[in-house]
Amino acid sequence: MVEIKEAVTVCRPIDDVFRYLSNFTNIEQWDPGVLTSVNLSDGPVQVGTSFELTLRYLFIPIHMIYTITEYEPPCRVVLKGEGDSFAVTDTIELSPNDHGTMVSYTASFAFSSLSPRLQKIIRPALSLIGKTSMAGMKKALSPIARVPQSVSLFSTGVHPVDVAADRLLIPGALGFSKWGYRLSNVFWRANAESLTRQTVVLTGATAGIGKAAALGLAQRGARLTFIARNRDKALATQKELIQKTGNKTIDFYIADLSLMADVTRVAKEILNDKPIVDVLINNAGALFSEHAETPEGLERSFAINLLGPFILTRLLLKGLESAKSPRIVNVSSGGMYTQKVHVDDMEMRCQPYDGATAYAWAKRSLVILTELWADQLKHIAVHAMHPGWVDTQGLAASLPRFHKRIRPLLRTPEQGSDTIVWLASAMEPGQCSGLFWLDRRPHLTHVFPGTRETDDERRQLWRALEEHERRYLFS
Ligand SMILES: NC(=O)c1ccc[n+]([C@@H]2O[C@H](COP(=O)([O-])OP(=O)(O)OC[C@H]3O[C@@H](n4cnc5c(N)ncnc54)[C@H](OP(=O)(O)O)[C@@H]3O)[C@@H](O)[C@H]2O)c1
Repeated sequence: MVEIKEAVTVCRPIDDVFRYLSNFTNIEQWDPGVLTSVNLSDGPVQVGTSFELTLRYLFIPIHMIYTITEYEPPCRVVLKGEGDSFAVTDTIELSPNDHGTMVSYTASFAFSSLSPRLQKIIRPALSLIGKTSMAGMKKALSPIARVPQSVSLFSTGVHPVDVAADRLLIPGALGFSKWGYRLSNVFWRANAESLTRQTVVLTGATAGIGKAAALGLAQRGARLTFIARNRDKALATQKELIQKTGNKTIDFYIADLSLMADVTRVAKEILNDKPIVDVLINNAGALFSEHAETPEGLERSFAINLLGPFILTRLLLKGLESAKSPRIVNVSSGGMYTQKVHVDDMEMRCQPYDGATAYAWAKRSLVILTELWADQLKHIAVHAMHPGWVDTQGLAASLPRFHKRIRPLLRTPEQGSDTIVWLASAMEPGQCSGLFWLDRRPHLTHVFPGTRETDDERRQLWRALEEHERRYLFS
């Protein structure tokens, strides 16, 4: 038996540290020796939860199964790891101190086929690995309130490498695929931020990207409020989220977000119950192949993708402005790159209907709105993002041929939702506003000639949306 002991102090509340460390999927963020960690169990992290880890040792991948054997929040968690040639017991003990939380980590190795002499020889190597891991853990749990480097260095807010990739058609498009995600996440810093005690309002949580985002937000301890149009789906989603995360602070409101009467009603209900809203995520959206109007007479793509988020956000501003460090995340689409805003015909009434174009107009406008809000709302960080190409029912239903052809390249909903959860929780996006993100990096908003709007068109867009809003708020 070889025992390695290390301790570090991190400047964070004990509950947050416990939540982060006891979920061993996070170990790949802080331990440089861990390539991947996957949770093999259903339900919240608890005694019996197992994780499959792939470790890197002298360039050789080693597979281990870790199982939680003791779970005593927020002070102690013990995991037993089993590999082919050794077993290890990791004991993590936490105690609060004047600077935050002290983390004591003990790893006891038992080797099946190593003589005591050899065990003595490898002890220093294991000790070094332990020290490196603890340094990684300390770094992951030490918040750095810094603006993303690319934002502070360049006036466009976009790194020259991303500018080049965005402008080149093939690299730009490949960036939307799962390969883009895999290439990007190699460079990410750990995001150990918790959302405990933060009220997050999310639309479109019953399927696809929104559901994966809901899971990520609930795992971070958010008080999650989602808005859904179907009560049965909402109940099933709430049950599933609580069952998977153990987070019981999840509720929902019912509204069809393409109906402005529903949007105004639900915003009032939410503000009535929750005077402070820390994060609003406008994720619900859809692409329709056929033209149709909502019962209120609005073209439905315009209604769900643009006017709904506009009115919901404006009504929830009172709650957001009461929060300490509020954020708005608008889920747009890479499809918007192909189009310029059409302020004279936002509902596509003056030309034959094309669903992809109508969708791109609305998503382009949502990005412009993000920039306008960022200028107006100095206290709120407002972000737009696009999730890449994601394998969801929404994509399969709206673009079936595209979905079938590029399916092997599509991201999972978890990959598509990563930047949403990051924008809602990480420190860096709290320090900037008005940018358009993919895979935790700001990107250009225009890559094709002729898509840039004038200042006058931006003002017209704003006025047109305000006019619609007045009709519903005061009717
Ligand atoms: N998938 C992609 O490749 C992709 C790419 C770029 C951007 N996006 C954007 O990402 C967001 C999520 O897309 P997704 O692919 O995850 O779509 P999805 O699988 O169709 O899920 C959409 C979610 O929005 C909800 N929703 C739709 N219309 C609604 C309405 N009128 N009122 C209330 N809720 C409504 C849906 O509720 P129900 O469960 O009741 O249907 C569902 O929860 C959208 O804004 C989309 O434009 C997706």
